[in-house]
Amino acid sequence: MTDSQRPPTTTDAGVPVASDERSLTVGPDGPLLLQDHYLIEQMANFNRERIPERQPHAKGGGAFGTFRVTRDLSAYTRAAVFSPAEETEVIVRFSTVAGERGSPDTWRDPRGFAVKFYTRDGNLDIVGNNTPVFFIRDPMKFQHFIRSQKRRSDNNLRDHDMQWDFWSLSPESAHQVTWLMGDRGIPRTWRHMNGYGSHTYMWINAAGEKFWVKYHFKTDQGIETFTQDEADQMASADTDYHQRDLFEHIRDGQHPSWTLHVQIMPFEEARNYRFNPFDLTKVWPHGDYPLQEVGRMTLNRNVTDYHTEIEQAAFEPNNTVAGTGLSPDKMLLARGFSYSDAHRARLGVNYRQIPVNAPKSPVHSYTKDGAMRMQNATDPVYAPNSYGGPKADPALTDDGGTWYSDGDMVRSAYTLHAEDDDWGQAGTLVREVLDDDARTRLVDNVVGHLLNGVSEPILERAFDYWRHVDKPLGDRIAAGVRAKQGETDPKAADQGNPARSSMQRKA
Ligand code: NDP
Ligand code: HEM
Repeated sequence: MTDSQRPPTTTDAGVPVASDERSLTVGPDGPLLLQDHYLIEQMANFNRERIPERQPHAKGGGAFGTFRVTRDLSAYTRAAVFSPAEETEVIVRFSTVAGERGSPDTWRDPRGFAVKFYTRDGNLDIVGNNTPVFFIRDPMKFQHFIRSQKRRSDNNLRDHDMQWDFWSLSPESAHQVTWLMGDRGIPRTWRHMNGYGSHTYMWINAAGEKFWVKYHFKTDQGIETFTQDEADQMASADTDYHQRDLFEHIRDGQHPSWTLHVQIMPFEEARNYRFNPFDLTKVWPHGDYPLQEVGRMTLNRNVTDYHTEIEQAAFEPNNTVAGTGLSPDKMLLARGFSYSDAHRARLGVNYRQIPVNAPKSPVHSYTKDGAMRMQNATDPVYAPNSYGGPKADPALTDDGGTWYSDGDMVRSAYTLHAEDDDWGQAGTLVREVLDDDARTRLVDNVVGHLLNGVSEPILERAFDYWRHVDKPLGDRIAAGVRAKQGETDPKAADQGNPARSSMQRKA
């Protein structure tokens, strides 16, 4: 491009500026002049470039793409986005949970997998992770859990002692921690991991019949992971490895894709299913509810401005569309409030008018005014009214999914189902899914993690935690830690059954 083809620099008001390099002074060595408003615009804008990072999931990246339906599941949902052959634009953001915006992509952590579908009926957000379960089942513990993963208040350091303190006092975390400490705790790239809605959601068909569903985005690139050593090396060689990998593959036309499947449970089966189907620490075994293909999601367009399109992207599980809904999962219901609140705090009350968050379908809402409003409100600004303003049409919504509920107000765990416990599915993962090599890597990862600053009695509690998941595995972990410390663990010799009752969840 020749100089004559380059556009002239302007201020944000569109007024051409005199210089990109020289400020206005009284004589070449003289003082600066206040009327050099372009210099002031540059300094002032720069001072305000950073906005608060997300509390959890601060480090991430993403891209735009499309979701195309490949199978007809209209018997289960009337959602347009899941109707045969429908194609919908999406934005996806991947993230780590505990690290700050500049933290390494390859730290061991769950990965966020947040998808916004710009459907013709409004935005549908599935804000999931690369794991099908989570550490806790009651939202009261979420804030405490995240604090235990982040930094201490005194030395501002991350601290394995507080991580294991929280986990070993929260036995419901065992399934997710087993997953996290295993191979899948460090995906090789974002392209090589699955995404899961994790929670149970609702689908509603055209006849009004309800189903419970779980979403599974299975990577078409295949699962690939890093060992702890590979990840540690990559953390220093390329802090932004996952971000770079995604951007470069899309730039070079190698578009990653995921096949979306659902597990579907008839509404009435939830009541007597062997596990509580709304417990986020549990999966629905595939043998009970097989995966059914829905469609394919392909990421094919990089963002052009990371700040406006990724940093200001606002995902919220409360964005449901007709044919979809939430469920009695307390975690999901709390998230229905928490995300929009976070966005109002971080981005401002009109965050849905930022282009990346705005739906592609028409908006006729009764919100008005507020900071950074972009969209004009129109009269009448109230309902009901006699002047042709928007009018709610219940036929166009399933109201986020509804179900029968009754009872005294209580603070309690879920109603227990026959096989509910904290350890069973974690044990299944260890014994039936992992092979010997994967089990050995799991032991090594946990031993390495525990040796990194975990003190007594938390250490001993952590050994018991693992013995409840799987006795031989717990013994190997205890022996591994004690060997490296040069001690013998007295319990490692004990071959008896673990005292399950001492650590079982209190109903
Ligand atoms: P299945 O044998 O049908 O499924 C096992 C699942 O484990 C597969 O989805 C597989 O994913 C996944 N998997 C394989 N290796 C690992 C690993 N290292 N870490 C985590 N997951 C892995 O059994 P069930 O459905 O009966 O589930 C058994 C256990 O498998 C569960 O307790 C749970 O821990 C785990 N699991 C179950 C899932 C579910 O939705 N039912 C989903 C993922 C894990 P892939 O097909 O991609 O290889
Ligand atoms: C981000 C709260 C559980 C996945 C966030 C944010 C908050 C939050 C406040 C930051 C939002 C922002 O500033 O943009 C909660 C609460 C939870 C919970 C209160 C439980 C009660 C979960 C679970 C999952 C999950 C179970 C996955 C299944 C994510 C993802 C992001 C996120 C993917 C990042 C979204 C993005 O990329 O912008 N969470 N969370 N969270 N959370 Fe949760």
